[in-house]
Amino acid sequence: MRRGPARSQQSFALEPTLEEKRAMGGAALSYLIGFLENLPEAPASDHDGALDLARLFRQPAPAEGTRDFDEVLRLIGEAASKGFETAGPGYLAYIPGGGLFSAAVADFLATGVNRFVNVWHAAPVFAQIEATVIRWLCDLFGYPEAAGGILTSGGSMANFSAIVTARRALLPENFLRGTLYVSGQTHASVAKSAVLAGFPPGNVRAVPTTPELRIDVAALRDMVKRDRDEGRTPFCLVGNAGTTNTGAVDPLDELGSVARDEGLWFHVDGAYGAFFQLTERGRSLFRGIDAADSITLDPHKGMFLPYGTGCLLVRDRSRLREAHQVGADYLQDLAPEDEIPNFSDYSPELSRDFRGLRVWLPVKLHGLGAFRAALNEKLDLATFLYEGLQDVPDLEVPWEPELSVVAFRIRSQRGSKGDERTRRLLELINESKRVFLSSTLIDGRFTIRACIVSHRTHRDRVEEALQIIREAAARSV
Ligand SMILES: Cc1ncc(COP(=O)(O)O)c(C=O)c1O
Repeated sequence: MRRGPARSQQSFALEPTLEEKRAMGGAALSYLIGFLENLPEAPASDHDGALDLARLFRQPAPAEGTRDFDEVLRLIGEAASKGFETAGPGYLAYIPGGGLFSAAVADFLATGVNRFVNVWHAAPVFAQIEATVIRWLCDLFGYPEAAGGILTSGGSMANFSAIVTARRALLPENFLRGTLYVSGQTHASVAKSAVLAGFPPGNVRAVPTTPELRIDVAALRDMVKRDRDEGRTPFCLVGNAGTTNTGAVDPLDELGSVARDEGLWFHVDGAYGAFFQLTERGRSLFRGIDAADSITLDPHKGMFLPYGTGCLLVRDRSRLREAHQVGADYLQDLAPEDEIPNFSDYSPELSRDFRGLRVWLPVKLHGLGAFRAALNEKLDLATFLYEGLQDVPDLEVPWEPELSVVAFRIRSQRGSKGDERTRRLLELINESKRVFLSSTLIDGRFTIRACIVSHRTHRDRVEEALQIIREAAARSV
């Protein structure tokens, strides 16, 4: 039997032998298990010598490979030890997710069998798995049978497809008068999406917020009216199911009414918060979300999956298809959509990874109850941290968390040295290497935020965070 080109003595063949595959897979698995076991002790961030190490990786591609897989694995492990420990329990910066082991197993299987899922006929049952995942998520938000969606690489791409869909559904070919309404707290990916979709940046209108950092509905109504009077064409309203800065939830019910009255597409960006819909507290905060025309979710945040898993749900999936479907002669052999969708007709992508298994396998193995319990735990931890921070002298904690972000800063008058001291406080907290937090600007003031989402963050680490913040606050003044 022909086995391909003669094998080099020094390299693995492109198709390794059975024994080599077993050894390589076994070594990778035992590295990963060791990595995960060590996470509670690993520094929450580590940049010592990171650039020196990075420089070692600036090498030309080797003509001959190496058979020393253990050495390559050692290098990968060293590389993984530098930077933010995004998988660990102390990572409370930006929006964490953690990364479930069961999802890593799903990815290993999915990339190993390497099926093409974006047209159903190429892998009917895998495409169905992805369609089932979309249906589960539609059910979570009370979406009707006509709803549908896509798994994207993340929330930014989901917001992009949502805006393109809204534009296509409501505006003429020449759409440059179309205006979108966001809050000053809306994630930058929405404005970026609008610009990528062809709108001038000024068409993205920032509506003022209330002291709780939620969209001011009266100001929104005024702004829409004024824009219409001045010849603009309001077409899209974006509400937040949890802002990035503080986790604020816009009054979705009221926004839905404005959208209905004004004929706007109502998109909800739930990239950070929407999975709290699994909890009773989340469901009550998100009342009215089922009336949204589209919802962005990020399973790589609220479902603790690895980076690269976002989702867009659209109430009427035919709208999503109208905005994304473009035929091609060389695809003529493929079966048309049937009871399973051709996802490529609903998305900007043709070839892509099989993201559905990364969502399906963890739900299958752990059950939705495990996700619900973990998300309830995060809400409790945020309340615990908020209450604990109230007692730290010199700190102000202006916003009671609606979800799982707690924002705080040094108490000070505007224009005093408060920002500098809060920046110093953040440095001191992060120097602990037990937790890693990030900052933002709110009302132009430097503000630290702790975002508790990872499935690996529990009460012990949040108690430790509180103690670290308390000690750092005492040192920073
Ligand atoms: C509210 C919100 N929307 C959108 C995004 C963008 O998501 P991604 O980073 O997955 O592209 C984020 C990311 O943090 C977010 O918090």
